[in-house]
Amino acid sequence: MPGIIVVGTQWGDEGKGKAVDALGEKVDLVVRYSGGNNAGHTVVVGGEKFIMHLLPAGILNRNATTVIGNGVVVDLDVLYHELDGLAARGEVVSHPLVSANAHLITSYHQTLDKVTERFAGKKRIGTTGRGIGPTYSDKVNRVGIRVADLLDPELLHDKVVASLEQKNQILVKIFNRREINADLVTEQLLGHADRIRPYIVDCGRLLNDELDKGKVVLFEGAQAHHLDVDHGTYPFVTSSNPTAGGACTGTGVGPTRIDRVIGVVKAYTTRVGEGPFPTELLDADGERLRADGGEFGATTGRPRRCGWFDAPVVEVANRVNGCTDVFLTKLDVLSGWDEIPVCVGYQINGRRSDVYPMTQSEVQAAKPIYQMMPGWKQDITAVRRFDRLPANCQAYVKRLEELIRCRISGIGVGPGREQAIMLNELV
Ligand code: IMP
Repeated sequence: MPGIIVVGTQWGDEGKGKAVDALGEKVDLVVRYSGGNNAGHTVVVGGEKFIMHLLPAGILNRNATTVIGNGVVVDLDVLYHELDGLAARGEVVSHPLVSANAHLITSYHQTLDKVTERFAGKKRIGTTGRGIGPTYSDKVNRVGIRVADLLDPELLHDKVVASLEQKNQILVKIFNRREINADLVTEQLLGHADRIRPYIVDCGRLLNDELDKGKVVLFEGAQAHHLDVDHGTYPFVTSSNPTAGGACTGTGVGPTRIDRVIGVVKAYTTRVGEGPFPTELLDADGERLRADGGEFGATTGRPRRCGWFDAPVVEVANRVNGCTDVFLTKLDVLSGWDEIPVCVGYQINGRRSDVYPMTQSEVQAAKPIYQMMPGWKQDITAVRRFDRLPANCQAYVKRLEELIRCRISGIGVGPGREQAIMLNELV
């Protein structure tokens, strides 16, 4: 079982960090393939909480080599802040290997992210402000800076100058900001060159060689299906492909090397930032979910928007990503309700649809149709076997499994590493 992808199926924050961690020691390499430090992967080990934004969550698994793939955008300051932060807490972790082709987030990308959001006013996306979108724009516009450029200071400087030529005009003339100095940016980037140099790799070659040797490679998704620039609620999405296909383009491994795709599904729904969210609760029930689930952004601290489980949202993600298994997270958060609504379809402009709509206007107009599931009162955080869950809780999981058309192989019942019920082996 060498190639395994872990992917979010909703709007992020499904608990992918926990799912990755649960795969544990059988994994030889953990690779991030998309996004950057807009992610917030929380892992709780021995009661201690760790939040990784850029580093693969699998870095806490000491047996695994970690890799940052070419599809990731890298803020070097954040990379070293996170690595040094772990070391300061006594965690012995190795420096991740970093693809030579990964793009670098610079200070001007962060500035542009913030000023364009402010300029957009009501039309803002609600980005994390980390410079993610502008860095991917530069990549596609072919004016990006890549990790390999750190190996050639002169070329790096030329590229920064070229990239800033147009941006400085925009910053000064449109946004009324000061010009950014190319020498300073180059200096900032080169400040990390010596430290990163030994870890720069040809990611595709490395991973293919390891897969040839029979090693288990875990492709760790960030964000989620509905934040994907192609498949998500465009334009309220991130600028990369967090979906399973992104694991191939974002690392240099062909689709025939992927054996399993694990979709991570939260037992209810959350979203941060702007954009449509059919089952969103704007009342006391939403606040209760937020409080019980600790639903505050791990990256920006923003309160997450909360709502009931939306089955068509997850069903479409399972199909597009080709999920073979689902890891259901945060089931324990739903303990205590008399009844739990599950969205099984929508009313869209007077018509019923049981599948996720095709167009953005339909998504905006979709009113959820709920099936009421009986709740359960017991605390389930100490349960480790499915048949020991309360009967109504088992029925909730079984109904979800039916609706999302994918087998549920693991269930998270608390934040701790050991708080999981495994139904099928994942590795
Ligand atoms: P960006 O990725 O910073 O450009 O933000 C674009 C959208 O994706 C915003 O709505 C963010 O809140 C959302 N987003 C980005 N990363 C994450 C994540 O890891 N979890 C949840 N939402 C995210």
